[in-house]
Amino acid sequence: MELKSIRKVDFGDKRVLLRVDYNVPVNNGKVSDTTRIRATLPTIAHLLDDGASLIICSHLGRPHGQVEESLRLTPVAPLLEEMLNQFIKPAGFAPRRIIKLDDCVGQPARTAVEAAGANDIVLLENLRFHAGETTNDPGFAKQLAMLADSYVNDAFGTLHRAHASTEGVAHLLPAYAGLLVEQELQGLIQVTENPAKPLVIILGGKKISGKIDVLESLIPRADTVLIGGAMANTFLLAQGHKVGRSVVEDDMVDTAKHMLDLATQHNTEFLLPVDYVVTDDLLNPTGISTVSADSIGGDDIAVDIGRRTCDLFQREIQRARTVFWNGPMGVFEQEQFSLGTLTIAKALADVFKTAHTVVGGGESVAAVNSAGLTRQIHHVSTGGGASLEYVAGKELPGLKMLMA
Ligand code: 3PG
Repeated sequence: MELKSIRKVDFGDKRVLLRVDYNVPVNNGKVSDTTRIRATLPTIAHLLDDGASLIICSHLGRPHGQVEESLRLTPVAPLLEEMLNQFIKPAGFAPRRIIKLDDCVGQPARTAVEAAGANDIVLLENLRFHAGETTNDPGFAKQLAMLADSYVNDAFGTLHRAHASTEGVAHLLPAYAGLLVEQELQGLIQVTENPAKPLVIILGGKKISGKIDVLESLIPRADTVLIGGAMANTFLLAQGHKVGRSVVEDDMVDTAKHMLDLATQHNTEFLLPVDYVVTDDLLNPTGISTVSADSIGGDDIAVDIGRRTCDLFQREIQRARTVFWNGPMGVFEQEQFSLGTLTIAKALADVFKTAHTVVGGGESVAAVNSAGLTRQIHHVSTGGGASLEYVAGKELPGLKMLMA
């Protein structure tokens, strides 16, 4: 099976429905991270170069089939217009105008698409304002399909969703993969297929529950697994340690034990933090200290990995030839608890010349971006859940529709 890349098709004169992942952070009506918008510009430029008319669609947040004013794609429109025109200018393209609609389907949307001029690009409103998007309703998919002749999916971050705009519509229109999807797969495949060894996997974040499949699939294949973030607390519980008032998933303790056994069976080094930064209150800390993993006090809240753990994890990363990282090591949005996460980001950047490094997932990507280290990582994925599921070897419904 091969990816049906847009490179193999001429979209001249075609109306193309382009699914992107503009699920971007919006604060006070402003997009605060443009990475996902920037990542789609090569595909947009490629399709424009072919002569296609574009209808761009995306979800934003999880409005559950209701219109939520704060989740309109309105702030994206001027930004996309500005970024796109800067991107295409050197190639001599005429400036494009983004026409942002108030809905994504229905007669007004069809009329606006028909009326769009040669230099106009239509941006549909948040797909998830309609319940049919996430339920993959065939009627909703049909309404989307009516807007175009072809469909291109460049929304790597949503390929793990079987939604109307990522799966349903691909049954109704000729479907192709955009350049971002292609690039993401090239970056991730080096982790999944014959990775250079040692393969070191670093997982953090709050929950084990969302990462069980990944752990089960990667423990047998990895040489070393490093665990940080609040998910490590559940592993500590499974080992019989106390974790005070730290975040844990009590119902995952047995799963954590199973993962520890799996690592032993496969001779995979499975490293948990040996020390922690702890505090008494997350938002208004009156005391912050570092304690070893076996002496977390009854009132303590673990908020970051400690310095000894940073050194330990750093040493493991130094001898790796492939590294995959998803999830922060602590509450890194608060500067005093960000050392662990930043240490991992720096450690990955340090092995740029000796290892293939991949960062997947929103929060770890934000950490790499804020440390200014993006260019020193081989592949920074735009998809959190999607990259995890891909690395775990799961079939991604959106991707399946782009293969032939
Ligand atoms: C993401 O941000 O990971 C993607 O846009 C998917 O969003 P979702 O988890 O709400 O489907």
